Amino acid sequence: MDIVALRRSWQQLAAAGAEPARYFYARLFVAAPEVRSMFPTNMQHQEDKLLAALGHILTHVDDADELAAFARRLGADHRRFQGSDSRGHFGLSERHYAWVGQALLATLEHFLGPSWTPSLRQDWTAAYQVVTRLMLDGAAEADQVSPPFWRAEVLHVDRRTVDVCVFTVRPDWLCPYLPGQSLPVHVPQLGTWRYLSPANAPREDGTIELHVRATGRFSTHLVRRLQVGDELHLGNPVGTTLASYGRAPHRPLLLIAGGTGLAPLKAIVEALCDQPARQTTLIVGGGTPDDLYDDPALSRIAATARWLRYLPTVESGWGWIGETGRAVDVAKRQTSLEHAEILICGSPDMTRDTITTLVAGGVRPEQVLTETYDHSLYPPLTAAAAASPREHVWAGTQ
Ligand code: HEM
Repeated sequence: MDIVALRRSWQQLAAAGAEPARYFYARLFVAAPEVRSMFPTNMQHQEDKLLAALGHILTHVDDADELAAFARRLGADHRRFQGSDSRGHFGLSERHYAWVGQALLATLEHFLGPSWTPSLRQDWTAAYQVVTRLMLDGAAEADQVSPPFWRAEVLHVDRRTVDVCVFTVRPDWLCPYLPGQSLPVHVPQLGTWRYLSPANAPREDGTIELHVRATGRFSTHLVRRLQVGDELHLGNPVGTTLASYGRAPHRPLLLIAGGTGLAPLKAIVEALCDQPARQTTLIVGGGTPDDLYDDPALSRIAATARWLRYLPTVESGWGWIGETGRAVDVAKRQTSLEHAEILICGSPDMTRDTITTLVAGGVRPEQVLTETYDHSLYPPLTAAAAASPREHVWAGTQ
């Protein structure tokens, strides 16, 4: 297999901008109308998710071990994509992979023109077959140990601010996850999956707390429309970075949260309550005191946990007597950073800003753990990204 030729042809396709994605989905949905219901109703903003991932993965088939682990996990995860037709619901099978493969080859042929040679076609076909096999094997293995997804009932809706809600949901079966991990969440009415982090350590009754701020279409739907009794689907948990907070238990922990990025860090704090005391500082930042939507619950935990130092901070607020400034400024002022294991979770801007400030102040990048679940591992379909597929991924992200 000529990997260099695969990569070169992918760059050529990427240079055509958004058109290949549109063409790919048009071909796929015409050839296999039954798969349309698996994809979001509104494809406008996410057309290149699957195609971008495909290109990225197929042009890395020479990295055998990494690819095998990644594709198996992806295949296991794809079990949550279910379609429905007149005969009922169905999951992915070999024929779905064959349709996607045909749409991919047709797209390459259409956009590469004379560069699309028989040997290139052979290489793309071979690469696709390798990945398909790995994904199907990964799915078959995962079928032995977990369902494709969990159905969860909304038990409680707690509106904390005008745009933040805390939901308590109960899956139909115990959904095992590690504190710090995230779950793909699906709202049947939208047909879209997004990642949310449970805000609690696993409980005996299996209930899960989800913190949601209305920012995009999905989260706004949840905050404005989701009611007690509604159903959500939860996919298998993902994420290894934040969940590895226990890798050096002798070191103090510094947890820095912005907005609803608090959720995975709160789950970790809850888990620490049942473990040998570990010196931990939790800094939760907000613009104003109103942004500290979980302050009463965190203050309650801090009141009984002597190992926990809780520092809420706001950038401005009348009458506020706590810390002020960005969370990262409070971290620098109030904690000793040198030996700390530092976990950061917030908006992409807040996370980037915090890491940059810490590293500029002498923190070693390997001290920092953070994670994103926004498909940034799969570079967008642009020529520059295709040429250097990994350079925008933080060292600590998965
Ligand atoms: C080698 C084959 C494939 C690869 C490498 C691949 C890769 C991916 C990746 C990385 C994502 C984003 C994951 C996420 O949202 O968490 C994705 C999403 C998705 N994939 Fe696949 N996939 C493949 C085959 C298929 C097939 C055969 C189907 C079904 C016909 C399918 C259906 C979907 C759907 C419905 C989504 C969600 C799309 C969205 O929300 O916009 N995939 N795929």
